[in-house]
Amino acid sequence: MQAVLDYLQTHHDRFVRDLCEYVRFPSVSAQPEHQNDLRACAAWLAARCRRIGLDSEVCDTPGHPVVLARTPRRAGPRRPHFLVYGHYDVQPPEPFELWKSPPFEPRLENGAVYGRGASDNKGQHLAHLNAVEAWLATGAELPCDLTFLIEGEEEVGSRSLAGFLEARRAELRCDAVVVSDTGMPAPGLPALTYALRGIAALEITLTGPNRDLHSGIFGGSVDNPAMALCQMLARLRDRRGRVNIPGFYDEVVPLSAYERRQLARLPFNEREYRRFLGVPRLFGEAGYTPWEQRSARPTVEINGLTSGYQGEGSKTIIPAWARAKLTFRLVPNQRPDRIARLVVRHLRRLTPPTVRARFTVGHGGEPYLLDPRGSRAQAALRALRTAFNRDPVLLREGGSIPIVTQFRKILGAETLLLGLALPDDNAHSPNEKFDLGNYAAGMRLGTSLWPELAAVA
Ligand code: BES
Ligand code: ZN
Repeated sequence: MQAVLDYLQTHHDRFVRDLCEYVRFPSVSAQPEHQNDLRACAAWLAARCRRIGLDSEVCDTPGHPVVLARTPRRAGPRRPHFLVYGHYDVQPPEPFELWKSPPFEPRLENGAVYGRGASDNKGQHLAHLNAVEAWLATGAELPCDLTFLIEGEEEVGSRSLAGFLEARRAELRCDAVVVSDTGMPAPGLPALTYALRGIAALEITLTGPNRDLHSGIFGGSVDNPAMALCQMLARLRDRRGRVNIPGFYDEVVPLSAYERRQLARLPFNEREYRRFLGVPRLFGEAGYTPWEQRSARPTVEINGLTSGYQGEGSKTIIPAWARAKLTFRLVPNQRPDRIARLVVRHLRRLTPPTVRARFTVGHGGEPYLLDPRGSRAQAALRALRTAFNRDPVLLREGGSIPIVTQFRKILGAETLLLGLALPDDNAHSPNEKFDLGNYAAGMRLGTSLWPELAAVA
């Protein structure tokens, strides 16, 4: 094992250069003009996997390709098999003007690599890959078989992946899935995330007049779709932070006293948090702490709101249409399809007869919950302790990784979420970065984890 750790240290600088090379691909899955960049990025990753001795392929899907890479299989008795999941696609970098340096020209500063996708998720799964390189290069014997499955559609809802898992079910069958695509509560404090929120996304478009109208000539006699939409949306949440949709909370499993005690032990300083986010005051569902609000309670969010004239100066019109992009974060046992139905039904009821409403239901993902007392979770906690030299905490997280419930359903495997992102990594924001200390810790995790997991498989 020491040889593996030494190898990681000796090659650290090259691993940093590799990460920079990887971040250079603008693999923005949401934007069709980047389709070829996603392909090129997948090809780069597969080549990198091949170079370290993995058997790799770029697999076509109806959307962006999936990269599969396997450690060399050994003849003899069956060994435990683990899947490492990650995603090479990234969120759109906009707004560009807020980046201190261009998002796809990675740069080193203050012990971190800056660039879109550095933390979410390229750096995190590359750390695992580097660890495997060290195992193979030093001739140390991996106690298990590993398959890396790195997809290109996570940031847009993993549309093609469930089908891919079905099609390749036999070869992907595994004892557990390991995912480093979540966060740590503070620097140096490792975490096992045992719950993720689910998500339901939809768009609503209201149309009014058949064209933008002069607001002086016609205003007062026809409704304004932007105004109507704002009035409808304003009713989706009450002042106490409760989602105001009939039936929305019906399937919510209340937080247990044990969980509330665990969450209460996480570090939190309201003033620092407020300052970090630049808000004058926090807002959340009454009766819950901020950690509970942001990880274990469901929400409604407006992600985007578009209508009328957006250019400089003024323009006096009644816009012909108005549109909002909404997402709902869900907790066990809410189901995205049911929630989307409830929301559409409710918004239809709220639509005044003066406009027409059209709905597009987008991607959805179920919430995830794992019993952290299980033997694999406990093994993962031991590996985290070794890698970070500190006792890990148990975390619920507010973000979503929709495919993890499919790993359970299709492959029969539970997912261990061992995140390496820091709260100030700026995932989905301008100036995303990945801490090099965490990069190194992630590689050490790839040294301690496989023996621990193989021992309990
Ligand atoms: N890495 C995140 C998920 C995440 C972030 C989980 C922080 C826990 C804590 C992932 O890349 C992501 O952003 N997922 C999307 C999924 C959505 C597009 C279906 C999300 O949560 O918005
Ligand atoms: Zn993300």
